[in-house]
Amino acid sequence: MAEGLYFRQLLAGRDFATDDGLATTMRNQAYVVGDASTGEVLLVDPAYDVAGLLGWARAKDLRVAGVVATHYHADHVGGEILGERIEGLAELLELADVPVHVQKDEVAWVAEMTGAPVSSLVAHSDEDLLQVGSVMLRLLHTPGHTPGSQCVVVGDNLVTGDTLFLEGCGRTDLPGADAEEMYTSLQRLASLPGGLTVWPGHYYSPEPSASMDEVRRTNPVLERVDRAQWLRQFS
Ligand SMILES: [Fe+2]
Repeated sequence: MAEGLYFRQLLAGRDFATDDGLATTMRNQAYVVGDASTGEVLLVDPAYDVAGLLGWARAKDLRVAGVVATHYHADHVGGEILGERIEGLAELLELADVPVHVQKDEVAWVAEMTGAPVSSLVAHSDEDLLQVGSVMLRLLHTPGHTPGSQCVVVGDNLVTGDTLFLEGCGRTDLPGADAEEMYTSLQRLASLPGGLTVWPGHYYSPEPSASMDEVRRTNPVLERVDRAQWLRQFS
Protein backbone atom coordinates (compact mmCIF):
# COMPACT_ATOMS: atom_id res chain seq x y z
CA MET A 1 0.00 0.00 0.00
CA ALA A 2 1.33 3.44 -0.91
CA GLU A 3 2.52 5.58 1.95
CA GLY A 4 -0.31 7.53 3.50
CA LEU A 5 -2.98 5.73 1.47
CA TYR A 6 -6.23 4.81 3.17
CA PHE A 7 -8.04 2.06 1.27
CA ARG A 8 -10.98 -0.07 2.44
CA GLN A 9 -13.37 -2.35 0.61
CA LEU A 10 -16.90 -2.55 2.04
CA LEU A 11 -19.37 -5.26 1.04
CA ALA A 12 -23.02 -4.22 0.81
CA GLY A 13 -25.22 -6.44 2.96
CA ARG A 14 -22.31 -7.30 5.27
CA ASP A 15 -20.35 -4.13 6.11
CA PHE A 16 -23.25 -1.71 5.52
CA ALA A 17 -26.92 -2.03 4.50
CA THR A 18 -26.94 -5.20 6.58
CA ASP A 19 -30.72 -5.46 6.73
CA ASP A 20 -31.17 -4.89 2.99
CA GLY A 21 -32.10 -8.07 1.11
CA LEU A 22 -31.32 -6.61 -2.31
CA ALA A 23 -27.87 -5.45 -1.15
CA THR A 24 -27.17 -8.92 0.20
CA THR A 25 -28.21 -10.47 -3.11
CA MET A 26 -26.34 -8.02 -5.37
CA ARG A 27 -23.03 -8.25 -3.45
CA ASN A 28 -21.89 -4.74 -4.43
CA GLN A 29 -18.59 -3.47 -3.10
CA ALA A 30 -18.04 0.17 -2.18
CA TYR A 31 -14.61 1.61 -1.49
CA VAL A 32 -13.25 4.24 0.87
CA VAL A 33 -10.09 5.78 -0.57
CA GLY A 34 -8.05 8.67 0.70
CA ASP A 35 -5.26 10.06 2.82
CA ALA A 36 -4.65 8.14 6.05
CA SER A 37 -2.81 11.04 7.67
CA THR A 38 -5.41 13.77 7.04
CA GLY A 39 -8.44 11.45 7.19
CA GLU A 40 -9.80 12.94 3.97
CA VAL A 41 -11.48 10.26 1.83
CA LEU A 42 -13.62 9.68 -1.23
CA LEU A 43 -16.42 7.11 -1.38
CA VAL A 44 -16.48 4.97 -4.52
CA ASP A 45 -19.98 3.79 -5.50
CA PRO A 46 -22.00 4.60 -2.35
CA ALA A 47 -25.46 3.00 -2.55
CA TYR A 48 -28.13 1.16 -0.51
CA ASP A 49 -27.43 2.91 2.81
CA VAL A 50 -25.67 6.23 2.34
CA ALA A 51 -26.27 7.37 5.92
CA GLY A 52 -24.68 4.12 7.06
CA LEU A 53 -21.64 4.69 4.86
CA LEU A 54 -21.24 8.29 6.04
CA GLY A 55 -21.63 7.11 9.63
CA TRP A 56 -19.03 4.40 9.07
CA ALA A 57 -16.58 7.07 7.90
CA ARG A 58 -17.47 9.42 10.74
CA ALA A 59 -16.90 6.71 13.33
CA LYS A 60 -13.35 6.32 11.99
CA ASP A 61 -12.73 10.10 12.06
CA LEU A 62 -12.67 10.24 8.27
CA ARG A 63 -13.97 13.26 6.38
CA VAL A 64 -15.82 12.41 3.16
CA ALA A 65 -14.60 14.96 0.61
CA GLY A 66 -16.32 13.54 -2.45
CA VAL A 67 -17.62 10.57 -4.37
CA VAL A 68 -16.34 8.65 -7.37
CA ALA A 69 -19.01 6.91 -9.45
CA THR A 70 -17.70 4.05 -11.57
CA HIS A 71 -20.89 4.06 -13.69
CA TYR A 72 -24.58 4.92 -13.68
CA HIS A 73 -26.17 1.63 -12.61
CA ALA A 74 -28.52 1.86 -9.63
CA ASP A 75 -26.70 -0.77 -7.57
CA HIS A 76 -23.62 1.52 -7.62
CA VAL A 77 -25.08 5.04 -7.37
CA GLY A 78 -28.75 4.60 -6.50
CA GLY A 79 -31.90 4.63 -8.57
CA GLU A 80 -34.54 2.21 -9.68
CA ILE A 81 -33.73 -1.44 -10.29
CA LEU A 82 -36.08 -4.42 -10.55
CA GLY A 83 -38.94 -2.18 -9.40
CA GLU A 84 -37.11 -1.21 -6.20
CA ARG A 85 -35.56 2.13 -5.30
CA ILE A 86 -31.96 1.94 -4.10
CA GLU A 87 -30.55 4.86 -2.12
CA GLY A 88 -27.57 6.57 -3.64
CA LEU A 89 -26.21 9.90 -4.80
CA ALA A 90 -29.43 11.92 -4.43
CA GLU A 91 -29.82 10.90 -0.78
CA LEU A 92 -26.10 11.26 -0.06
CA LEU A 93 -26.01 14.81 -1.44
CA GLU A 94 -28.79 15.78 0.95
CA LEU A 95 -26.57 14.68 3.83
CA ALA A 96 -23.20 15.83 2.49
CA ASP A 97 -22.62 18.58 -0.08
CA VAL A 98 -19.69 17.00 -1.93
CA PRO A 99 -18.64 16.73 -5.57
CA VAL A 100 -19.38 13.52 -7.46
CA HIS A 101 -16.67 12.59 -9.94
CA VAL A 102 -17.85 10.88 -13.11
CA GLN A 103 -16.61 10.49 -16.65
CA LYS A 104 -18.15 13.09 -18.95
CA ASP A 105 -19.86 10.41 -21.05
CA GLU A 106 -21.69 9.21 -17.94
CA VAL A 107 -23.02 12.57 -16.65
CA ALA A 108 -26.45 12.41 -18.29
CA TRP A 109 -26.91 8.74 -17.41
CA VAL A 110 -25.98 9.27 -13.74
CA ALA A 111 -28.24 12.32 -13.44
CA GLU A 112 -31.20 10.48 -14.96
CA MET A 113 -30.75 7.28 -12.96
CA THR A 114 -30.11 8.87 -9.57
CA GLY A 115 -31.92 12.21 -9.68
CA ALA A 116 -28.72 13.89 -8.48
CA PRO A 117 -28.38 17.47 -9.80
CA VAL A 118 -25.98 17.85 -12.73
CA SER A 119 -24.40 20.76 -10.82
CA SER A 120 -23.03 18.23 -8.30
CA LEU A 121 -21.42 16.09 -10.99
CA VAL A 122 -17.82 16.83 -11.98
CA ALA A 123 -17.20 15.64 -15.54
CA HIS A 124 -13.83 14.00 -16.13
CA SER A 125 -11.82 12.80 -19.09
CA ASP A 126 -9.63 9.75 -19.44
CA GLU A 127 -6.41 9.96 -17.38
CA ASP A 128 -7.66 12.83 -15.21
CA LEU A 129 -5.98 12.95 -11.80
CA LEU A 130 -7.96 13.49 -8.65
CA GLN A 131 -6.26 14.55 -5.43
CA VAL A 132 -7.51 13.73 -1.96
CA GLY A 133 -5.14 14.96 0.72
CA SER A 134 -1.72 13.93 -0.58
CA VAL A 135 -3.10 10.87 -2.40
CA MET A 136 -3.56 10.92 -6.16
CA LEU A 137 -6.24 8.93 -7.98
CA ARG A 138 -5.92 8.28 -11.71
CA LEU A 139 -9.23 7.96 -13.55
CA LEU A 140 -9.33 5.62 -16.54
CA HIS A 141 -12.24 5.92 -18.95
CA THR A 142 -13.13 2.31 -19.74
CA PRO A 143 -16.36 2.31 -21.78
CA GLY A 144 -18.17 -0.87 -22.72
CA HIS A 145 -20.36 -1.84 -19.77
CA THR A 146 -21.68 1.75 -19.96
CA PRO A 147 -20.55 4.75 -22.07
CA GLY A 148 -18.69 6.46 -19.25
CA SER A 149 -17.58 3.58 -17.06
CA GLN A 150 -14.37 4.39 -15.24
CA CYS A 151 -11.71 2.52 -13.29
CA VAL A 152 -9.48 4.08 -10.64
CA VAL A 153 -5.77 3.51 -10.08
CA VAL A 154 -4.61 4.55 -6.61
CA GLY A 155 -1.31 3.36 -5.21
CA ASP A 156 -1.01 -0.33 -6.15
CA ASN A 157 -4.77 -0.71 -6.47
CA LEU A 158 -7.11 -0.81 -9.44
CA VAL A 159 -10.82 -0.32 -8.67
CA THR A 160 -12.67 -1.72 -11.67
CA GLY A 161 -16.41 -1.19 -11.07
CA ASP A 162 -18.31 -3.47 -13.44
CA THR A 163 -15.76 -3.24 -16.24
CA LEU A 164 -13.65 -6.11 -14.93
CA PHE A 165 -14.51 -8.79 -12.39
CA LEU A 166 -11.98 -11.32 -11.13
CA GLU A 167 -13.74 -13.91 -13.27
CA GLY A 168 -15.51 -12.33 -16.23
CA CYS A 169 -16.59 -8.78 -16.95
CA GLY A 170 -19.69 -6.57 -16.78
CA ARG A 171 -22.65 -7.14 -19.06
CA THR A 172 -22.62 -5.68 -22.55
CA ASP A 173 -26.35 -6.03 -23.24
CA LEU A 174 -27.73 -3.22 -21.05
CA PRO A 175 -28.61 0.33 -22.24
CA GLY A 176 -25.48 2.23 -23.27
CA ALA A 177 -23.31 -0.87 -23.38
CA ASP A 178 -21.00 -1.56 -26.32
CA ALA A 179 -19.22 -4.90 -26.77
CA GLU A 180 -16.55 -3.51 -29.07
CA GLU A 181 -15.64 -0.73 -26.62
CA MET A 182 -15.57 -3.32 -23.84
CA TYR A 183 -13.02 -5.33 -25.81
CA THR A 184 -10.76 -2.27 -26.12
CA SER A 185 -11.17 -1.36 -22.43
CA LEU A 186 -10.38 -4.89 -21.25
CA GLN A 187 -7.30 -5.13 -23.45
CA ARG A 188 -6.15 -1.82 -21.97
CA LEU A 189 -6.67 -3.04 -18.39
CA ALA A 190 -4.85 -6.26 -19.28
CA SER A 191 -1.81 -4.20 -20.22
CA LEU A 192 -1.54 -2.58 -16.75
CA PRO A 193 1.19 -3.70 -14.33
CA GLY A 194 0.70 -7.21 -12.93
CA GLY A 195 1.43 -6.07 -9.38
CA LEU A 196 -1.76 -4.03 -9.18
CA THR A 197 -4.49 -5.46 -6.99
CA VAL A 198 -7.84 -5.66 -8.80
CA TRP A 199 -10.82 -4.59 -6.69
CA PRO A 200 -14.12 -5.20 -8.55
CA GLY A 201 -17.56 -3.66 -8.03
CA HIS A 202 -19.14 -6.98 -7.01
CA TYR A 203 -18.04 -9.85 -4.79
CA TYR A 204 -18.68 -12.60 -7.36
CA SER A 205 -15.61 -14.76 -6.74
CA PRO A 206 -14.26 -16.76 -3.79
CA GLU A 207 -11.79 -13.93 -3.07
CA PRO A 208 -12.72 -10.22 -2.87
CA SER A 209 -9.62 -9.10 -4.82
CA ALA A 210 -6.67 -10.53 -6.72
CA SER A 211 -3.47 -9.37 -8.38
CA MET A 212 -3.63 -8.32 -12.01
CA ASP A 213 -1.11 -11.10 -12.76
CA GLU A 214 -3.53 -13.64 -11.29
CA VAL A 215 -6.58 -12.14 -13.02
CA ARG A 216 -4.76 -12.12 -16.37
CA ARG A 217 -3.88 -15.77 -15.88
CA THR A 218 -7.35 -16.94 -14.89
CA ASN A 219 -9.96 -14.57 -16.36
CA PRO A 220 -11.00 -15.65 -19.86
CA VAL A 221 -12.13 -12.13 -20.85
CA LEU A 222 -8.51 -10.95 -20.68
CA GLU A 223 -7.21 -13.62 -23.02
CA ARG A 224 -5.70 -12.21 -26.17
CA VAL A 225 -8.68 -13.18 -28.29
CA ASP A 226 -9.02 -11.12 -31.44
CA ARG A 227 -11.71 -8.50 -31.79
CA ALA A 228 -13.87 -10.46 -34.26
CA GLN A 229 -13.88 -13.53 -32.04
CA TRP A 230 -14.81 -11.37 -29.04
CA LEU A 231 -17.68 -9.69 -30.87
CA ARG A 232 -19.10 -13.05 -31.99
CA GLN A 233 -19.25 -14.05 -28.33
CA PHE A 234 -20.36 -10.80 -26.65
CA SER A 235 -22.34 -8.68 -29.14
FE1 LIG B 1 -23.21 -2.22 -13.72
